[in-house]
Amino acid sequence: MLSVLNSSRPFTDSPSPAWLKSFRERLLRWFVAHRRDLPWRKTRDPYAIWVSEVMLQQTQVATVEAYFSRFLASFPTIAALAAADEQQVLRHWEGLGYYRRARQLHRAAQVVVAEHGGVFPREIDVVRSLPGIGRYTAGAILSIAHDDPHPILEANTFRLLARLLAYRDDPRSNAGQTRLWSFAEQLLPKRDVGAFNQALMELGALICTPRAPRCDECSVAQLCPTRAQGLQAEIPPPVRKVAFESVRAAAVVVEKDDTVLVVCNPAGERWAGMWDFPRFELRGEGPTTVEQELAAQVAERTGIKVRLQRSFATLKHGVTRYRITLDAWLATARGGRLARNAWSPRWVTMDELHELPLSTTARKIAKLIAAMR
Ligand code: ADE
Repeated sequence: MLSVLNSSRPFTDSPSPAWLKSFRERLLRWFVAHRRDLPWRKTRDPYAIWVSEVMLQQTQVATVEAYFSRFLASFPTIAALAAADEQQVLRHWEGLGYYRRARQLHRAAQVVVAEHGGVFPREIDVVRSLPGIGRYTAGAILSIAHDDPHPILEANTFRLLARLLAYRDDPRSNAGQTRLWSFAEQLLPKRDVGAFNQALMELGALICTPRAPRCDECSVAQLCPTRAQGLQAEIPPPVRKVAFESVRAAAVVVEKDDTVLVVCNPAGERWAGMWDFPRFELRGEGPTTVEQELAAQVAERTGIKVRLQRSFATLKHGVTRYRITLDAWLATARGGRLARNAWSPRWVTMDELHELPLSTTARKIAKLIAAMR
């Protein structure tokens, strides 16, 4: 029997019924025994699953766990989320990054309330038309919540399916994606689609890892042509390493009495809706000192004239391919009036600062200045 299934040769068209039966059984048996006990696996509420999937789109499981529970405690229903202020939603997302996800989730909740009576839709095309929901997320929500027969393909299953097909061309190309989606569809069982899709992701996350996959522990190793050919390091081909770029920047904490000056990132920006201390890239051009350059930039953005005091901390962080070294400066206000512009500059107390959604580095700086007071 095993020889029929033992797949050292990749199938060119469709897997055989015997291969499929064996794959589904082995995968589900493994999942039942090894699945992680994650908070979003305790519910079939499409809203909760939606929130988890959006958070998981670009963030690790371990980070998402705490955010997920807090988010649902504050916004327990689609209606509650739709009625919330965007700033409140962003405050709950603070530290997760990719804040566009939060803004789109919020907007989509408002669409579900306005157009679907607050009930998460069940038709895949309707779900996919919601802001921030693509083919993967729509399939994940409907399969996990309702066992509806939709395939999924995300980072973990992408790798797993490419290996199960021993896919030698570029799996990231359009043709590769089409092939993998169609394979994901062929794999779907008739029942328990939600568990099956989660099992695929779990196997990809825990066993079929990018480097050094744990084939010895894999319940479907006998069915895997990539393993049979020893091609795990080549399939899928590793992505090209990004070239990191160093950037020097400064954030200016302008103090006036018991308040500090903050600005809100304007609409259309990556950080739209998130508050920050006035922050600038340092070009170090021209004859001016850093202090003069920063004072000029603060005045231009906020209308406030300042005198720079001292740099009191240096933070390092990464955003996409940028490696940013951020100097935090203290400055005192010397006059001027708050500008009325897209940056909405404002004076806030430390208590008010606590309530605003801040960038991760701004939150660190806020904690440092709170400790200095
Ligand atoms: N990554 C994306 N969706 C996931 C899920 N539902 N469980 C675990 N990891 C995931």
